[in-house]
Amino acid sequence: MVITKEERMGCSVHLSGDEKSVIILDQTQLPNRQVYLTLETAEEIYDAIKVLAVRGAPAIGICAGYGMYVLALKKQTEDYAAFRKEMHEDGEYLISSRPTAVNLSWAVKRMLGVVDGNGDKTVPEIVSLLHDECYAIQDEDIEMCRRISEYGLSLVKDGDGILTHCNAGPLATSRYGTAIGPMLLGKEKGIEFHVFADETRPLLQGARLTSYELQKAGVDVTLICDNMASLVMKNGWVQACFVGCDRIAANGDFANKIGTSGVAILAKHYGIPFYTLGPTSTIDMSCPTGADIKIEQRNPDEIREMWYREPMAPADVKCYNPAFDVTDHELLTAIVTDRGIVYPPFEENLKKIFE
Ligand code: MRU
Repeated sequence: MVITKEERMGCSVHLSGDEKSVIILDQTQLPNRQVYLTLETAEEIYDAIKVLAVRGAPAIGICAGYGMYVLALKKQTEDYAAFRKEMHEDGEYLISSRPTAVNLSWAVKRMLGVVDGNGDKTVPEIVSLLHDECYAIQDEDIEMCRRISEYGLSLVKDGDGILTHCNAGPLATSRYGTAIGPMLLGKEKGIEFHVFADETRPLLQGARLTSYELQKAGVDVTLICDNMASLVMKNGWVQACFVGCDRIAANGDFANKIGTSGVAILAKHYGIPFYTLGPTSTIDMSCPTGADIKIEQRNPDEIREMWYREPMAPADVKCYNPAFDVTDHELLTAIVTDRGIVYPPFEENLKKIFE
């Protein structure tokens, strides 16, 4: 499938018209302001990922891919060894901005693979290959999200209630999204869902981003606080849970936004199918289990005072602020990927989609 320039430009992360910088829609300012940021240096790209101006596993991978190209363009050297060394340094630096989502290192390594595998070419020739590679990363994501959305849609029916956590929509990817993809695709096909969006403490991706994206698309969405999910399920309003993922281990355990594992436990209690939806770029077959996933710890002020007019906790109170948790594969009904729906036993069936 050919992806047009207009389609890419419509995504929350893209290259500028002159292809010399990365443009991102600043997700920290949504839903109140639509502000685009121009990223040109390694520090600017690192910071944008760190502060979540660009966030969502696939989107940070796309941003890093474009970033690596933009940084390659600016290198002064024509010497391959020096160019390669600088690219690896930039790559390591970008990867260190956030540890949990595998898409970030996956995209950087993919760009570095182009550098490493073409030592027989001139630096300008390698830069030109990097240009094609970063576009391929985004184009493939658009295609993968479309397929995930179609597979996801086959699991639900008109009128169903779907609960989601955090934001796994177009902002977090390129188009459609993963967990939100079936809801947006369904809308296009005249299928209506009632979506419950967890607000997602502490950074409110559900309130600020998911409810914004769904409402804009005309999908029926109800925002709830995270601690209301149990009641909404008990009321019989939820027929399926769709969540995204930041890294899926080889045994099916997966990391996603903090609070996801609690949703999975509730879903099991109420007998509601629980799915994670993600592209193959989020599956890390080199990571055996969830225990091997590094969980990002974030600034305690995100809990103590962010979003409030004044701090809502004693200054310096001890806080524990993990950005993600790991959901045990035993709580998962299936993993919806661009290569199909993977059911248990996950260890065996995940291998099959890579054959
Ligand atoms: O900290 P965030 O906002 O980057 O966390 C994002 C999530 O947990 C998403 O669910 C995940 O990245 C999937 S996005 C398609």
